Order: sequence, then structure tokens, then C-alpha cells
Amino acid sequence: MTARTQTGGPGLTTTEVPFIEEARSRGQLYVEQPYELYTQENQQTWRRLYARIRPRWQRYANQQFLEGIDRLGLPPDRIPELAEINRFLSPLTGFRARAVSGYVPAFVFFDSLRRRTFPTTITIRNPGKLDYLPEPDIFHDLAGHVPMHTDAAFAETLVRFGECAHTAAELAAGTRDANDTLARLTSIVRAMARFFWFTVEFGLMRSKTSGKNGICAYGSGLLSSHGELLHSIESTEVERRALRLEEVIQQPFWIDRYQSLLFVAESFEQVYEMVGTLESWMRAGKLDQVAAGEPSVSQDDLKSFLVPAGEAATA
Ligand SMILES: [Fe+2]
Repeated sequence: MTARTQTGGPGLTTTEVPFIEEARSRGQLYVEQPYELYTQENQQTWRRLYARIRPRWQRYANQQFLEGIDRLGLPPDRIPELAEINRFLSPLTGFRARAVSGYVPAFVFFDSLRRRTFPTTITIRNPGKLDYLPEPDIFHDLAGHVPMHTDAAFAETLVRFGECAHTAAELAAGTRDANDTLARLTSIVRAMARFFWFTVEFGLMRSKTSGKNGICAYGSGLLSSHGELLHSIESTEVERRALRLEEVIQQPFWIDRYQSLLFVAESFEQVYEMVGTLESWMRAGKLDQVAAGEPSVSQDDLKSFLVPAGEAATA
């Protein structure tokens, strides 16, 4: 399969891909994965990322993630094709990875999860930026997120997030005054984004069997970052608090630095139940005025909740 790679040009390097820019300018969200465009350098980036982080997975990742890597047959030596990952993934939880051209507006993203489709970035970071890039790339999405989607409890949690997004859209549609709608929706989307961030992206979990000092990582932002995975569990500069919904929804976060505060869940079942609580708080108006601050909620994100669900899903 490595023979099917280009030898020169930008290949599919993050922010340098005309093919992606063209798809975006046409408003095309879902794309194919043009595997032959990956260069030898792109393939080498995957190999380096995988080889560096593998020992840290063994040490700090949760058990379901480690099993997920095996169950998917995630290759260490080349960028995977989404189709081959899906052949193993779909029979397990119904989830599948689907290539996208870049940023997915919040509602569309959550709605995809409800349909067990994971919008997946197909570009890979520049080899000069192995340690950090602000946008997701295929290593973050396929090696950080997708192994978790092999676990039934985790997969159901993602679906539940998608249902919550529908409830948010429903509530927005039911609010008469346009200003009220936007203020309320901004707060709800911010609360959802914070909860998703501190669980699916940067969650820690208690564990007797994996991790260190009784704590392991399950958040994809940690599991795809060689440096932050170690930092999240070993550093004395990180405050690790028990996961509490009332705290998480009020807690701003910044994406351009290692997290100094992380939340530790007891189990995936706890996170799943908490998404249900989030939804009931949403309906009760308890998310209408969460603390201002990061993340900012973009106009595109807000708009995505205001178009009818059927339309958004096919966008
Ligand atoms: Fe992510």
C-alpha cells in the first residue's frame, strides 16, 4: 500500500491541500480520501507519530482504547484507509469514520455522531509540527478518537451527545424572540462544548487496571499527543478534579496550551448518564446562562442549530 504514494508536492499536509480548499469553496463537507495523494513524507509523519506515542499508550491509555487499537488493526507503518478501519469498526458499534474537508459546524458534527458517523480529517500535520497543531488531523482523529468508538458504552455516549444537540435545536426553535434565542443557544452550545472537551477530548478516568496512580486517559486530545498524554497524568502542575457536571459547564478552556485542569470520570457509564443530565438541565433552562468565556461560539455554529435538523444532516 505504501507504493501508492506520491513522491513530491504538498500531498495531504494540513492547510496545504488544494483538493481540500476546492471542496470547501464548493461548500462540500464530505469528501473521499484520495489515498494516492499522501506523500512519502506524509507516511513518514504517521510512522513517527505512532512510534513515539505507542509506549505512552501502553502506560497511560485506558484499557478499552488499547483493545480498540488491536480490534481495528490500526497500522503503525502507514496512514490507514478509512474504508479498512470501517470494516472492523462498523460491526462492533455501528460507527464509521467518514472523510470531511475541514471544520464541521457544531450541530452537524453532533448530529453525525447521533447517526454513528464520525467526521474525520484526512490531512496530516506538517512534519515540522509533530507536537502541536490547533486543528485536528488524521492522526488525532483516527489514532486518538476512533479506537474509543469500538467500545459500546463510549459509542452510546457519543450518540447521546447527538441527541442532546437535537434537543438544543428544538428548544431554539421554540423560543419566540430572536435575541433570546441566540443568547440562550450560545450558552447551551458553550456548555455542550465544555462538557465534550473535558470528557471526549481531554477526559481522564479512574482505573485499577491501566494508567498510573489509578488514573488513565480516554480523551482523544490526550491520546493523540505524545507530550500532553504524559503531562496529563504525571505533571504536578495539573489539577485533576472529580468530574462534576455543574463545574464542567462553567469551566472555560483554551486550546493552545497544555490543560492545567482536567476532570476524572469514574466510568464510561457515569459519562453517559451525565449526558442525560445535561439534556434534562438544558430542558429545565439550567444551561441558559453559563459563565461567559472560552470557547467562543461562532455564527456558523449557531446557524447550524437553527436550520431544520433534516437539512443540516444532509449538508
Ligand atoms: Fe478531537
